[in-house]
Amino acid sequence: MAVNKQNKKSFGRIGALKHNWNIKLALLSILVALAVYPFVVISSDASIDDVIPPVGTHVGEDVPQPIEFPHDIHVKVNKINCMYCHTYARRSKVAGIPPTSKCMGCHKVIATDKPRIKELTEYWENKSSPPWKKVHDVPDFVHFTHERHIKRFVTDRDFPVENVKEICAFCHGEVENMTVAHKVKPLNMGFCVRCHEDNGGPADCWTCHK
Ligand code: HEC
Ligand code: HEC
Ligand code: HEC
Ligand code: HEC
Ligand code: HEC
Repeated sequence: MAVNKQNKKSFGRIGALKHNWNIKLALLSILVALAVYPFVVISSDASIDDVIPPVGTHVGEDVPQPIEFPHDIHVKVNKINCMYCHTYARRSKVAGIPPTSKCMGCHKVIATDKPRIKELTEYWENKSSPPWKKVHDVPDFVHFTHERHIKRFVTDRDFPVENVKEICAFCHGEVENMTVAHKVKPLNMGFCVRCHEDNGGPADCWTCHK
C-alpha cells in the first residue's frame, strides 16, 4: 500500500530525531491523516436510519489475547478507520487481521517505551506475529461473507466510509469503546434471519448453509 511506503520513508529520517517529541507528535498527525485519508469520501446524506438494526446481545467471557489490543485508543482517540486495519472486509469473505508490519508502521516510533509495544516489537524482530485468538467464530456449516454486507449497507447506499463503524456495529457492537475485542452480538441463526427478513436479505436455507 502506498501509505506504508511513505510511512517507512519518513521513519528513516525521524530515527535521528528520536527524542524530539514535537516531531513525534507532528509525525503522528501525519500518520493518522494518511491512515484515514483513503476512507474520507465526499460527504453524503445516507444514514443508517433506513436500516432496521439486528436485535440481540451476547454476554460471554473475554478471549485472552497474546497482547491486549486496545481498539478504543486506535479508533476513538486516534480516529483510525476500521477498514484501514481490516482491509479485506469490503472485498472478501473475511475482514482480516492486520499484519504486524502495519502496526510497526506506527509503533517503530510511537509508544516504544510501553510494555505492550515492547512485546509487539519482539514478535516483529523475531519475524513472527502475535498469535491472535478468534473472538467471533460461526460454525463451519454457516456461510457468511463480509463483502456482500459491506456492499449492501455501505457502497450501494453511498454511506460515508468514515462512518463504517456504525455498520460494523450491527454485528460487532461498539468496538471503538472496547479495550479488548469481545463478542457482544449473538450471531446465531435467529439474529441473522431476523435481519434478513427486516432488510430484504435472502431467506433460503441454502444461502447460509451450503
Ligand atoms: C490499528 C488497527 C485496528 C483498527 C483501526 C481496528 N482494528 Fe479490529 N482488530 C485489530 C487487531 C490487531 C485485532 C486482533 C486482536 C483482538 O482480537 O483483540 C482486531 C480484532 C477485531 C475483531 C475481533 C476479531 C475476531 O477474532 O473475531 C473485531 C470484530 C474487530 N477487530 C472489529 C473492528 C472494528 C469494528 C473497528 C472499527 C471500529 C476496528 N476493528 C478497528 C486491529 C484493528
Ligand atoms: C496509525 C498509527 C497506528 C497503528 C497503525 C497502530 N497503532 Fe497502536 N497506537 C497508536 C497510538 C497513537 C497509540 C497511543 C500511544 C500513546 O498513548 O502513547 C497506540 C497505542 C497502542 C497500544 C497501547 C500501548 C500502551 O500500553 O499504552 C497497543 C498495545 C498498540 N497500540 C498496539 C498496536 C497493534 C498490535 C497494532 C497493529 C495491529 C497497532 N497498535 C497499530 C498508533 C497506531
Ligand atoms: C452482518 C454482520 C456483520 C457485519 C456488518 C460485519 N461483520 Fe465482522 N464478522 C461477522 C461474523 C458472522 C464473523 C464471524 C465469521 C466466521 O466465523 O467465519 C465476523 C468476523 C469478523 C472478524 C474476524 C474474522 C475475519 O473475518 O477476519 C473481524 C476482524 C471482523 N469481523 C471485522 C469487521 C469489520 C471491521 C466490520 C465493518 C467494516 C465488520 N466486521 C462487519 C459479521 C459481521
Ligand atoms: C444488518 C442486517 C443483516 C445481518 C445482521 C445479517 N445479514 Fe446477511 N444479508 C443482509 C442483506 C440485506 C443481504 C442482501 C444483500 C444484497 O442482496 O446485496 C444479506 C446477504 C447475505 C448473504 C448472501 C451473500 C451472497 O453471496 O449471496 C449471506 C450468505 C448472508 N447474508 C449471511 C448472513 C449470516 C450468516 C448472518 C449472521 C451471522 C447475516 N447474514 C447477518 C442483511 C444482514
Ligand atoms: C441468514 C442466514 C441463515 C439462514 C437463511 C438459515 N440459517 Fe440456519 N443457521 C444460521 C446460523 C448463523 C447458524 C449457527 C447458529 C449458532 O451458531 O448457534 C445456523 C444453524 C442452523 C442449524 C444447526 C442447529 C442450530 O439451530 O444451531 C440448523 C439445523 C439450521 N441452521 C437449519 C436451517 C434451515 C432448515 C434453514 C431454512 C429454513 C436455515 N437454517 C436458514 C444461519 C442461517
